[in-house]
Amino acid sequence: MRSPLVAGNWKMNKTTGEAIDLIEKLKEGCEGLRDVEIVVCPPFTALQAVSQALLDSLSPIRVGAQDLHWEIRGAYTGEVSPEMLRDLGCQFVIVGHSERRQFFHETDLAVSKKMAAARSQGLIPIVCVGESLEEREGGKTFSVVERQLRGGFSGWNPDLGEVVIAYEPIWAIGTGRNATPEQANEVHAFIRHLLIDLFGEEVGSLTRILYGGSVNPNNIQSLMAQPELDGTLVGGASLQAESFGQIIKASIKSTHGL
Ligand code: PGA
Repeated sequence: MRSPLVAGNWKMNKTTGEAIDLIEKLKEGCEGLRDVEIVVCPPFTALQAVSQALLDSLSPIRVGAQDLHWEIRGAYTGEVSPEMLRDLGCQFVIVGHSERRQFFHETDLAVSKKMAAARSQGLIPIVCVGESLEEREGGKTFSVVERQLRGGFSGWNPDLGEVVIAYEPIWAIGTGRNATPEQANEVHAFIRHLLIDLFGEEVGSLTRILYGGSVNPNNIQSLMAQPELDGTLVGGASLQAESFGQIIKASIKSTHGL
């Protein structure tokens, strides 16, 4: 019912030349793949080159950005608008990644404005939520995720179109310490119930919820075996064609129970 989605967050990595090299390898490795949606999120500087590399092919790979501003244009030095992303061939955009919340003080209000701005240009937002280690150890995981979702979705109207959620516990990002499949599934189920509560059965059960945080070729199968995991948001392991390709392929197999 919900087709798997694997998104690679390249963060502040890859020059244009390196990005082209990686996308060419990925294109080759993903040729003819079905039953999985693949998204790569290069830095702004490589978006055009990556989109162009995918233009002439029947590749199942889509392009996403890592952030956006909520206005369409204007005096916002250094920012990039949803219209500009659309113009560069983006179909997805990550919103509210924990690194943006942590290092750039992004709030739930900013997340809600960015979500609406993305949808206004037909971009699918991948909205990130997740607790810190201190919050998990203090038993606050569910309340933090609920606050982020309620805040981010304030003023949200499901008629605006598709949105994807990524649960990324901060303590698992880039640390090599991933949540156990059961821990991830428990929070995903909580998120799904909240979505059903907020937006009704249909929207709640169709919305894809990805897991992120130290996903790699060794743990992907056990993660994807969990019923509430609809895919993954991958950082470090998406920077190499081989590891990202393995994650993509394992996501298809697990879904089909092979
Ligand atoms: P990681 O990053 O896979 O390197 O832990 C995930 C993310 O931040 O999206």
